[in-house]
Amino acid sequence: MSELLKDKYHALAETIEGVPPQDALQRLAGEFPGKIVFSTSFSWEDQAITHLILTQQLPISIFTLDTGRLFEETYYVWSRTNEQYQTHIKPYYPDKDALESFIAQKGPNSFYESIENRKACCHIRKVEPLQRALKGNELWITGLRAEHSPERTGLPQLEWDETNQIIKYHPILNWTTEQLKQFVYENGIPYNTLHDKGFVSIGCAPCTRAVRPGEDFRAGRWWWENRESKECGLHAHS
Ligand code: ADX
Ligand code: SF4
Repeated sequence: MSELLKDKYHALAETIEGVPPQDALQRLAGEFPGKIVFSTSFSWEDQAITHLILTQQLPISIFTLDTGRLFEETYYVWSRTNEQYQTHIKPYYPDKDALESFIAQKGPNSFYESIENRKACCHIRKVEPLQRALKGNELWITGLRAEHSPERTGLPQLEWDETNQIIKYHPILNWTTEQLKQFVYENGIPYNTLHDKGFVSIGCAPCTRAVRPGEDFRAGRWWWENRESKECGLHAHS
């Protein structure tokens, strides 16, 4: 099965690069009926993509990984999005047994104590639920952008995800921050108000802080760790 999907990926790769997101999303929704999903964390990026999907009524299901440690502002923009677009974004939750035994053993905030604990928490709260969300699907849409990090700068818009054995598509990979904000404002898209308070990349509340002028895009994520260890396992390369 994966080999067939990989062949499909190779055939599509060059024809999708650079196609405007609304056209590419429409085409991909037609190519992968019932097997195309979009993961949202309710960032600027993800809100723009949600808008493109829902205003065109594309048959792409939208899910979020609710880690249980998100900001109040994130839950607020999630509710506003459901209301404004008359939709129900699907949540995936951590496995309750795994979470209960992890917290019983390590306590609620063990991510500050070691990289090992932090990665275990990300695995339980994000990676395992992501695997369930992707199961049975063939194409996964994300809001990654080249400006986020050097690792993301070199990505193609359509890539083969060896870890999850799925095709990944990043519709707004090459949008600039200014372009993105303008799109959000002009279209009246609800957005996370933490973005107005210096938060750039927003994840879980205990692991995200605002960034200072001049700091890089991901400086506010797991700020107590070295740059090299800063990934949660959702995106193998980032
Ligand atoms: S992460 O790797 O640091 O966590 P980042 O916050 O940059 O990822 O977001 C990149 C993309 O990953 C988002 O556009 C979204 O597609 C996906 N993503 C990140 N966090 C979540 C989440 N909690 N739920 C669903 N998708 C997410
Ligand atoms: Fe746990 Fe922090 Fe990872 Fe969220 S970002 S899953 S709270 S370690």
